[in-house]
Order: sequence, then structure tokens, then C-alpha cells
Amino acid sequence: MKRIAVLGSTGSIGRQTLQVIENRREEFKIVALTARENDALMLEQIRQHKPALAALLDKGSAKRLRDSLETDTGTAVLDGEDGIIKCVTESDCDMVVNGMVGMAGLIPTLKALETGKNIALANKETLVAGGQLVMDLAAKKGLSIIPIDSEHSAIFQCIGSTPVSQVKRLLLTASGGPFRGKTRTQLKSVTPSEALKHPNWRMGKKISIDSATLMNKGLEVIEARWLFSLDADRIEVVIHPQSIVHSMVEMVDGAVLAQLGNPDMRIPIQYALTYPERKPSGLPRYNPVLAGSLEFLSPDTENFPALKLAYQALEAGGTMAVVLNGANEVAVDLFLRGAISFNSIPAVVEWVMEKHNNHKNPCLEDIIYWDIWSRQQAAAMVERDGEKYWHLQ
Ligand SMILES: NC(=O)c1ccc[n+]([C@@H]2O[C@H](COP(=O)([O-])OP(=O)(O)OC[C@H]3O[C@@H](n4cnc5c(N)ncnc54)[C@H](OP(=O)(O)O)[C@@H]3O)[C@@H](O)[C@H]2O)c1
Repeated sequence: MKRIAVLGSTGSIGRQTLQVIENRREEFKIVALTARENDALMLEQIRQHKPALAALLDKGSAKRLRDSLETDTGTAVLDGEDGIIKCVTESDCDMVVNGMVGMAGLIPTLKALETGKNIALANKETLVAGGQLVMDLAAKKGLSIIPIDSEHSAIFQCIGSTPVSQVKRLLLTASGGPFRGKTRTQLKSVTPSEALKHPNWRMGKKISIDSATLMNKGLEVIEARWLFSLDADRIEVVIHPQSIVHSMVEMVDGAVLAQLGNPDMRIPIQYALTYPERKPSGLPRYNPVLAGSLEFLSPDTENFPALKLAYQALEAGGTMAVVLNGANEVAVDLFLRGAISFNSIPAVVEWVMEKHNNHKNPCLEDIIYWDIWSRQQAAAMVERDGEKYWHLQ
């Protein structure tokens, strides 16, 4: 019986992880659940899985949860960042599924590794901000980081035990999001609700907006760099609107391996949980005849400059990716709240990156400092230049 802690259990990845586990109760036991503030859903999840520990970041929500929880579940409800960390370090789990969103997932990931836990990682911002620290610590402790992101899971499966020296390049596929084919002029007036309508996947708000700007693919390029130890010039992006080929790996002899399947996150989630074994999932099977033709196109980095910015951050190294990520988190939030236009998201990120004096080989304290700095800069720019500027993009 594998004992699992699920961080971000109330989100899209978290809920699908619990669905996978519900079908495999003889193999997995949930020992801890965490989220930010959704006490109502957490209450249902606790009743169903009876974990020893649960935590909500928001203390008021945690109090409400404690008040409504029956004693027979035996679950201790913690709160704050410390509470989330305790769910990782004190829950006696074998594996942590990190389905949190944003750079908030970095410290719990590091704490999990410090205390000897393998990680199934969906939270890409963790590797974007702290890739070197996380991968070094995992290697030092002899622990695994198994990707859940469908593209990285595909690459992980295609590479298998092939040494990195025999891999020529990675081809990360991207759907292109809801606005594929649009120009900057057409993108000027798109709304948050239009941007949230991803053609192939139902996901949380932040990743949906990142998919629409192509920043998601940029974050994934950086994630791939750390997971697979390949430089940026060996990681390419190809637009594939059907989201059937989840990514490809070209080997040095010219052979290209791809992993295909229906766009359903429960497949990579289950694989991360059962790895190295494969188990039946009971999910609808891929039918190549019904799925029809598969297209591949070059990404449009003129109208969607976020992807270019991510490559620049990766090539710069140091704290540049921390700053890219922090500014992007703020810009996405401002867009969702109607404070800035869609085209302003990459513009905010670019200006904060331009202001940043890069710092090489950052430690955790540097990462936290420059993450806060980038958020403050992004917020201050929008505050200062206001409507007049941001809506002109
Ligand atoms: N969704 C997908 O299909 C998918 C695919 C590949 C990769 N990913 C990656 O997986 C991660 C999660 O994505 P998602 O779509 O599942 O996001 P989501 O639906 O927004 O869920 C995020 C989860 O994290 C919790 N959370 C948010 N901020 C937190 C904080 N500061 N501290 C603690 N917990 C916090 C949320 O709690 P509340 O519900 O209480 O707010 C929720 O449980 C992201 O990094 C994303 O890029 C997602």
C-alpha cells in the first residue's frame, strides 16, 4: 500500500488524482490533503478518504473546516504554510503529489525531498523557479521526481532508460490554446472568459491563461530543461492542435519516439503513481481512425511573445526564470481581475525581466527574494501606468 499526500487536492490535478486513487484503493492510501481555502470540497474529500492530516493555507477556512468535521474521521486539520509543510513531513507518506499552483509549491517540494519523499510533480512553477535546487536535492537523496504534466510524462516514457547523450532533442507539443491563429490586434480585446475556454483540456484558471498566452509552453520548456538535463537548444516546441501526441523525443540516430493518447490527465497521473508499473485505467481508449488527422505547426512567437521570453530566461539562467514566473503570476491574476489586457501579460513580464539584474547560482533565499521583488515590480508597474497604458497594448 503506497501512502500518498496530495497537495492542491481541491484543484483540477488534485481532484483527478483522487479519482485515480478511488479506483485503486487496494494500492493507495491518502494520508494527507492540502489546499488554499476551499473548505467545503476539502470536507467532502476528508469524509471520503479519512486522511490523518489535512491543511488549508487560509486560517479562517481551516477553522470552518475543523468546526464542521465529525470526530470519526480522525483527521487533524492544520493551517498556514506550516500546516501544509507538516502534511508533507509528518504524514508518513511515501509519495507527495504536488498539484498546487504557482511558486507556492516550491518549499513543500523541497521539504518533501528533505524528508525522503518521492514526488509526482504537476506544479511546474516549482522547477521554473527552483529547478537546480530541486533536482540537486533529489539526486543527493536518491529520490524520484516523476512528471505529471502530460508533455513531460510523454518525454519521460519515450526516453525510458536511454542516456541523455543519445537524445538529440525534445519536441514539446502545444495545443496553441483558444486563440491560435489570432493576431495581436485581434488579441487586444479578448476577455478572461474567452481565454479560459481551452479547446482540449479542463484545467485551473492560471494554467488556462498560461496556455492561451503560450507562457505555459515556455514554463514547460524550462521544466523540461531541469527534468531531463538538456539545454534550451535541444528543446523545441511544436503546435499540435489536437493534443493527441503528448510530446516526442528525437534520438541521435534520427528515430523519433512519441507518446499518444486521448487528452486526459488521469493517464499521466496514474502512471506517476504506479510507476514503474502500468495498470489498466478503465478510461476511454484512443481510436486513431475516429481521432482523424494530426497537424503540426510552428509556434507563432510574434503574436504570442511569452514563449520567447521563457527561452530568454532559460538562456540567461540564474534568477531570470524566477522573475519571469513571479511577474507572470501577478500579470495573469491582474488579467483575470480585468485590470490589464491580454497582450499586457507578456509585456509586464518582459519589462520586469528587463529591470532585473540577474543573479547566478541562487540559493533558496535568493529565489524567495527575487520572486517577491518581481511580484512587487509587476504590481507597481500596473498601478503606476494604470488603465491608460495597459489597455493600449
Ligand atoms: N490542470 C491540469 O490539467 C494541469 C496539467 C498539467 C500541469 N498542471 C499544473 O498543475 C498545477 C496545478 O494546476 P491546476 O490546474 O490543478 O490548478 P487549480 O485547479 O487552480 O488548483 C490549484 C490547487 O492548489 C491550491 N492552492 C492554490 N494556491 C495555493 C497556495 N498559495 N498554497 C497552497 N495551496 C494553494 C488550490 O486550493 P483552493 O482550491 O483552495 O484554491 C487548489 O487545490 C499547476 O502548476 C499547473 O501548471 C495542471
